[in-house]
Amino acid sequence: MRIITFITQKGGAGKTTLALNCAVLAGQKKAALILDLDPQASAEGWYQDREAEAPRLVKVGSWQLPEALSNAKAAGFDYVLIDTPGRDEPSTTAAIRAADFCIVPCRPTPVDLKATLPTAEAIKRLAKPAAFVLTQTPPRGGRITEAEMGLGMLGIVCPVRIVARTAYQDAHGAGLGVAEFEPGGKAAAEIAQLWHWIVRKMEKVTHEQETNVA
Ligand SMILES: Nc1ncnc2c1ncn2[C@@H]1O[C@H](COP(=O)(O)OP(=O)(O)OP(=O)(O)O)[C@@H](O)[C@H]1O
Ligand SMILES: [Mg+2]
Repeated sequence: MRIITFITQKGGAGKTTLALNCAVLAGQKKAALILDLDPQASAEGWYQDREAEAPRLVKVGSWQLPEALSNAKAAGFDYVLIDTPGRDEPSTTAAIRAADFCIVPCRPTPVDLKATLPTAEAIKRLAKPAAFVLTQTPPRGGRITEAEMGLGMLGIVCPVRIVARTAYQDAHGAGLGVAEFEPGGKAAAEIAQLWHWIVRKMEKVTHEQETNVA
């Protein structure tokens, strides 16, 4: 079982959107579970609107995280995707600690880049593999390159960028992932690239860690 935590202190960066959309893809081929750690429960709200069986979602408080993860393992889930609140809370530290890999979404603005620092530091302190993902970007332009350079000084930047597209908002409103809402669309294509990149990177890093320990 692999655990991926979507985390940043910055509100509205795209944690929930990435977690749900990646989980929908993961759930097409494997057993995927979303753990909603956010008291605002926007992931749970989305789940209530869904009819599909997969992915599964459970809302948990931070104190329930260890138990929820051991239950997920016993139930045979392949992937657990943790959606976290946009504030620094005990639950966010617990979610980083539990992760095999952390995804830190960030919009390409100076304010967002700055607000990412405490999260990047927390991840570093806990020595967790992580990557930044640029979200809600314009389709192209210097702003993206500048943000990539800035984040690149802090760690790995995912080469897949998530563009600002209404499909993300409309799919969320319908209780769907973009892969279901608009299967041939651009959002579906970039989320598929993102998920494949995350899985490949996570497996590589995990393998390296296991080899080092051995
Ligand atoms: N790529 C995108 N294109 C368009 N809208 C987006 C995109 N990503 C996210 N949004 C919208 O931006 C808003 C914030 O996104 P989201 O809820 O995923 O952020 P969050 O980091 O989970 O926020 P919070 O910190 O409040 O939990 C939502 O309304 C969402 O639909
Ligand atoms: Mg959220």
